[in-house]
Amino acid sequence: MNTQNKTFFIETFGCQMNFHDSEKVVGTLISQGYRQVQSVDEADLIFYNTCSIRDKAEQKVFHRLADYKKLQEQGKKFAVIGCVAQQEGENIFERAPHVSLVAGSASYRNLPEMLVQIESGSRATGLDDRQTDETFETEFTARTNPHRGYITIIEGCDKFCAYCVVPYTRGKERSRTSDSVLAEARKMADAGYTDIQLLGQNVNSYRDAAGKKSFAELLTAVGEIPGIRRVRFTTSHPRDFTRDIVDAIDTVPTLCDHVHLPVQSGSSRVLASMYREYTREQYLERIGWMKSTRSRTISLTTDIIVGFPGETEADFEHTLSLIDTVHYDGIFSFKYSARPNTPALKYIDSISEEEKSRRLAILNERQREIQRANYAKHIGHIMEVMVEGYNEARGQVIGRTSQNKTLNFTCGTSPLPKPGSYVNVLVTKSYPNSLVGELASNQ
Ligand code: 5AD
Ligand code: SF4
Repeated sequence: MNTQNKTFFIETFGCQMNFHDSEKVVGTLISQGYRQVQSVDEADLIFYNTCSIRDKAEQKVFHRLADYKKLQEQGKKFAVIGCVAQQEGENIFERAPHVSLVAGSASYRNLPEMLVQIESGSRATGLDDRQTDETFETEFTARTNPHRGYITIIEGCDKFCAYCVVPYTRGKERSRTSDSVLAEARKMADAGYTDIQLLGQNVNSYRDAAGKKSFAELLTAVGEIPGIRRVRFTTSHPRDFTRDIVDAIDTVPTLCDHVHLPVQSGSSRVLASMYREYTREQYLERIGWMKSTRSRTISLTTDIIVGFPGETEADFEHTLSLIDTVHYDGIFSFKYSARPNTPALKYIDSISEEEKSRRLAILNERQREIQRANYAKHIGHIMEVMVEGYNEARGQVIGRTSQNKTLNFTCGTSPLPKPGSYVNVLVTKSYPNSLVGELASNQ
């Protein structure tokens, strides 16, 4: 196949897993002779990496594909990948006949063959691979940031929470070997990466495919690689969140002091109907471990769903009291939306959109005040940031703390630090979502 002059454009929606999948897809396409371009106009092949976690994701995809139809006359080809592709399957060809490729994430390792198929004029599908034991490992990942990089350590999900499409779109849980994860992390460190984020839908459900290391041991080993200064991991599931993870953060300075631990609801009754496999008390026990560390202050963030079928006012009050107890540094809050194939479809979605919006607004307002107080506590302290860039309009350098907080700062007469460098910053001001400061000293 001569693809030397072929170009592609890719657009990505959704979670970090999807963004990282796109980096691997880009790397694979480049290895096959394609060149990436930054607009649909310039591209021969258009990839659309989709997300179906909430709302009317399917409709949005079909609308976009309808917009693309007129471009078919210019000889362009279209590929729909990711969660909507897996969920809707060949239905996509029916509703959007100009699409050539429909593939879910479990099939991306077969992309080179699928590309040959579509270039020869046939359609290709990658939809039947969700029971695979293989992960999408590739040596061709095209990472977009030269300092911070993702590594997928576990794919899929076996938890089947009542509201969630992920187990149906990303397939069963499968972990990589710790040796392959460590080899990739070492390679990244050699290439100048200092910040590594380990990814998985349930990252801490990691089970070394070779049986050598627990998740906490893997975290520690990545954190001990020379050159690595920050290690993050997301997303954690409370049921598999064991104390040794907290001990590792407490002991290994390169492990970031931030944990994202989705709770979804503060009511044990709602948690049971969500099939979350933990109670409010068990969740709070894990929070207690993190609040009693010896050497670190672990920043906590979470995901919360309001208006799950059957959620009473009293249940919602339990969620409010939980955020008051935990004092999160951030929450991602969502109104429940019914998703295809999920067990919660059998519950009556009894809460009106209006009531869901009311609960969401109350929750967010309460959380804003909690964050205002949390962020203000940093004023007067020196924090290390990784430099991410420069905001011309504000005349501020953009930095990120180990706790994953944005800390924008000025440098007085000192030269601007380079993106990717680490500097100390004195915090002088705070907002509910970011901090402001002045460069303290270069290291
Ligand atoms: N409705 C609303 N929120 C959802 N999430 C997952 N599925 C749904 C749904 N059907 C939220 C959860 C999850 C986050 C990634 O998205 O809070 O943790
Ligand atoms: Fe979805 Fe639950 Fe799996 Fe998370 S653990 S991906 S919420 S099914």
